[in-house]
Amino acid sequence: MGTKTGRLIVASNRGAYKIHETPQGIETVPAISGLVSAVEPLLKELKGLWIAWGGREAAPGGSPPLRLRVPADDPCYTFIEVPLTAEEIERYYYGFANNALWPLCHYFLEKCHYRLEDWNAYVQVNHKFSHIILNEAQPGDLLWINDYHLALLPSLIRYSKPRLKQFFFWHIPFPHPDLFGTLPWAPHILRGLLGADVLGFHLNSYVDNFLHGVAALVGAPVDFKRKIVYWQKRRIQLGAWPMGIDFEEFQSLARDPGVKKLASQLRKDIGTEKILLSVERLDYTKGVMEKLLAWEKLLEEKPEWVGRASLLQIAVPSRTCCPAYRELKKGVEAAVGRINGRFSEGTYRPVHYFWKGLPRAELVSYYMAADVMLVTPLRDGLNLVAKEYVASRLDGTGVLVLSRFAGAAQDLKDALLVNPYDLAAMVRTMDMALRLSLEEQEERMALLQEKVRRYDSRWWLSRFQQAVMSLEEDASEDFSETASS
Ligand code: UDP
Ligand code: G6P
Repeated sequence: MGTKTGRLIVASNRGAYKIHETPQGIETVPAISGLVSAVEPLLKELKGLWIAWGGREAAPGGSPPLRLRVPADDPCYTFIEVPLTAEEIERYYYGFANNALWPLCHYFLEKCHYRLEDWNAYVQVNHKFSHIILNEAQPGDLLWINDYHLALLPSLIRYSKPRLKQFFFWHIPFPHPDLFGTLPWAPHILRGLLGADVLGFHLNSYVDNFLHGVAALVGAPVDFKRKIVYWQKRRIQLGAWPMGIDFEEFQSLARDPGVKKLASQLRKDIGTEKILLSVERLDYTKGVMEKLLAWEKLLEEKPEWVGRASLLQIAVPSRTCCPAYRELKKGVEAAVGRINGRFSEGTYRPVHYFWKGLPRAELVSYYMAADVMLVTPLRDGLNLVAKEYVASRLDGTGVLVLSRFAGAAQDLKDALLVNPYDLAAMVRTMDMALRLSLEEQEERMALLQEKVRRYDSRWWLSRFQQAVMSLEEDASEDFSETASS
């Protein structure tokens, strides 16, 4: 790893496991998200600590942070649980992170609720994380902070431990300042992030939005060309590093006889000539409703697909206490019921809906069974599922339908790109995907696989290491607040 002596300390709101207390003791249940898929393999390899909330309410009266060696079946790194009270969960997590920052960064301004009590709790929880990290961090360690829940943390840590090297990765889109500036505490968030040494985003456009935000709302000098902010006698380097996946891991899972067997069993069970698949957390940003409506319209307009093609929808439960997510679930399930009511025939079902998450091997068997993968979010920072589908297609066939508004579309231009807000375009593209010749499938898939293989998790790690190394080289310099543009 890039740090010469120290450990890697990862901080994020949610870690790779949710903690449950059972009569038999502590149980860890895997959490599902792109952040976990991307971060945990690195931590397993580099060891170190992951400091995060465990997804449960802290015991009344407060308890010291729990330390666990994880994963339970092959312990290789330490998970330190940040205990959150019921009120903190309600205000900081549901209130500010999920009802202000999440919709704001995904361009859903109408879903944003800006409440002072939630902001205060956000400040308080960022302080709580900082106390726990400051207790753990030793000279030479590298702190890697993740995502929008912990935007104030870099500056809090900088204040107490100015020499601790900090890398921050923002996993979701970063919006234009016209939008970001609607948040009453936008300058505080930006100044909080500027405590880091290196700030990473998936795309150049997110970096540009951040830089424009800093220039407009903080007034710090910015070098747009070199992606640098000068702030409090420090130089903050920004970078666009779209996360990659472990291509070989997906290929080797796809080669596994057990996984292959699951895939062919799934095809048999579904029984249609064509299978379309969607896999996502049940989140309004993912465009699940828009996709179902397009599927319904396609069955209406092209009845030749009725009985011949089925959509498998894996909806992973997410943020189930938020009214917006509960409403979405109701709406989605009503749409599934209506479509199945309208178009089912005999044993044929147009939609197979699962409200659950799948372990990786099973997920790969679904990727292998699917002729068409629909990844059609209304807005998504990157989207790893699209890359995972590509990596699992050992035989080089399959069609990826990808939203233009997923960060992954920047690299995966050989997918069938679509605007998920455009119903007619969605219907056309789904129909085209179902009819694409084997030759064209293979041509597109080869190009997609080349991209996903080249820009994989190793590539991502090397970008990260390079950034960290440049920090070490710069450690002795003092940067005055001047910018070249
Ligand atoms: N995933 C999983 N099981 C499931 C569905 C999804 O393990 O049933 C994983 C999937 O492999 C991917 C991650 O969850 O790595 C989802 O990441 P993505 O970037 O697509 O979306 P996010 O949930 O972070 O918004
Ligand atoms: C996205 C975010 C993560 C978050 C995950 C699941 O991937 O970038 O920070 O952990 O969604 O959401 P949750 O609220 O359950 O942690």
